[in-house]
Amino acid sequence: MCGIVAYVGHRQAHMIVIKGLKRLEYRGYDSAGIALLNGGLTVHKKKGKVSDLEESIKGKYLQSTIGMGHTRWATHGEPTDGNAHPHFSSDKKLAIIHNGIIENYSTLKQELLNKGHTFLSETDTEVLIHFVEDIKDHNDCTLEEAVRLALTKVVGAYAIVVMSVDDPTVLIAARKGSPLVLGVGKDEYFMASDATPIVEYTKEVIYLNDHEIAVIKDGQLSIKNTANLPLTPYIQTVDLELEAIEKGGFEHFMLKEIFEQPRSIKDCMRGRLDSLSGSLILGGLRDYTTKLFNAERILIVACGTSWHAGLVAEYFFEEFCRIPVEVEYASEFRYRNPIIREGDVVIAISQSGETADTLAAIELAKSKGAIIFGVCNVVGSSIARATHAGAYTHAGPEIGVASTKAFTAQLTVLSMIALIVAQRKGTIAEKKLQELLVEMENIPAKVEKALSLNEKIKKIAWTFKDARNFIYLGRGYNFPVALEGALKLKEISYIHAEGYPAAEMKHGPIALIDEEMPVVFIATRDSSYEKVVSNIQEVKARKGRVISIVTEGDDTIPKMSEFVIEVPAVHEALMPLVSVIPLQLLSYHIAVMRGCNVDQPRNLAKSVTVE
Ligand code: G6P
Repeated sequence: MCGIVAYVGHRQAHMIVIKGLKRLEYRGYDSAGIALLNGGLTVHKKKGKVSDLEESIKGKYLQSTIGMGHTRWATHGEPTDGNAHPHFSSDKKLAIIHNGIIENYSTLKQELLNKGHTFLSETDTEVLIHFVEDIKDHNDCTLEEAVRLALTKVVGAYAIVVMSVDDPTVLIAARKGSPLVLGVGKDEYFMASDATPIVEYTKEVIYLNDHEIAVIKDGQLSIKNTANLPLTPYIQTVDLELEAIEKGGFEHFMLKEIFEQPRSIKDCMRGRLDSLSGSLILGGLRDYTTKLFNAERILIVACGTSWHAGLVAEYFFEEFCRIPVEVEYASEFRYRNPIIREGDVVIAISQSGETADTLAAIELAKSKGAIIFGVCNVVGSSIARATHAGAYTHAGPEIGVASTKAFTAQLTVLSMIALIVAQRKGTIAEKKLQELLVEMENIPAKVEKALSLNEKIKKIAWTFKDARNFIYLGRGYNFPVALEGALKLKEISYIHAEGYPAAEMKHGPIALIDEEMPVVFIATRDSSYEKVVSNIQEVKARKGRVISIVTEGDDTIPKMSEFVIEVPAVHEALMPLVSVIPLQLLSYHIAVMRGCNVDQPRNLAKSVTVE
């Protein structure tokens, strides 16, 4: 939530900042702003997209080699020009951008109001910069020290950058709970919420840790922590190519990411799985592997689509490893004093690796002595660093707000983890393991085949684009797929959709079915096939409009369905990797036909760094 970018060096800062904000727009897009130092501290801000800001500053004097910008996802105060960042101190000599929430802002605000401060916005961020100003004025200290002292009093999460008219070469950045990456170029520095605005200039980055403050002054970088101890910067090389963060000829990032799946699933298995030699290795499980084999229970914590991946993993782990699994919404888990016993292992799943609730759930589980495994996509992200061990999904940057390729990569990694555990525990027969490994290697080709149904799915989308409701039903491994299909549709087309276990339908949702209700069945050939056929009959009997995802060659369900989408046959435990593809495409096309902003749906953000 909220993206921040800053630059100091020899280039025109506004160009880098605006371009960077566009790359970070997936983090929030309700208003944007930029601060530059040219004569004085100039701030331009605008409600709307970064392109609206860009339009509004055309023709303005923007020359500056130092600057910072922000794209907002509103928490405190509506999206307006005034609430957009950057925010000034009262003397307008300092400006700040901020991603996160200052939880004690109202107490601080009251103290500052008593001292005569006035505020121009409703944000917690403006309070923070006034607080820094107040400390600086009353302690006669440097800006750096004032920022540090302020942060020791602040409760909440932040990634901030501060600029000052009196220190024209200085950028001060700090983080706690919200991500911040520094790019180190030749005589220039970059700062951003993730590495995507940085990689076209430099691959050398520093991931700032919680409670760290970075100061760039006169071209020199120093890092300390909020306890004032100097730290040695740890520079890493980020492995991210520019084409991975561009649309590459596709109309939307979401479509590009859907079509990338054969490759991203292959990338996820590369060097890890080889059916010929029967080898299955995940280096990241490291020294904690034995803990996982010996787990008496696995708790999976995640949010959104990642939670759906967790549900599939529950079926997979229980079937093949015979370990009981509980899948928890991170936001519920963290607030209900969960029971964590010795022998429990927690798996945290997160595409961004920054989801605040998942991060908090990890910290809670850690404090109770649990061992935590992470399944993350973003390398170096907060969750990846907070866990004891784990495996990256290697899906590449996912920019469309609705998660697609990250989901299938999560399923791939989780299946590999489960099979490693099952092999080691001896809960899977060698022959079965071998069969599943071969099946996994064939998944990219089968996903490719499912993608070839695009045109057909587009036609189905046209028929249902004006529907007001949808129901998605599936059983077994396809039940979480039904949830995911419904979520995709809701997120980007704003059509109300319910995902349900097909059999549970008769305990409620069946009342919704009439001749106008589209019902999507994920009805591939598996152990519950016959039961799903009966569920389809129940919907048909009530005149529902049936759209079925079936296995190639099925000659029963097509007779009962208005529309049929045939996917290749796959072992049922791996079917979600294939059966989800038509649902991603269906939601995509319906959203495009309804004129929705597919990559940036209203009210959503890709990286939810507030609870
Ligand atoms: C947001 C995104 C979803 C995502 C969820 C969890 O709601 O819009 O696409 O599934 O967060 O995010 P994570 O990065 O932890 O997987």
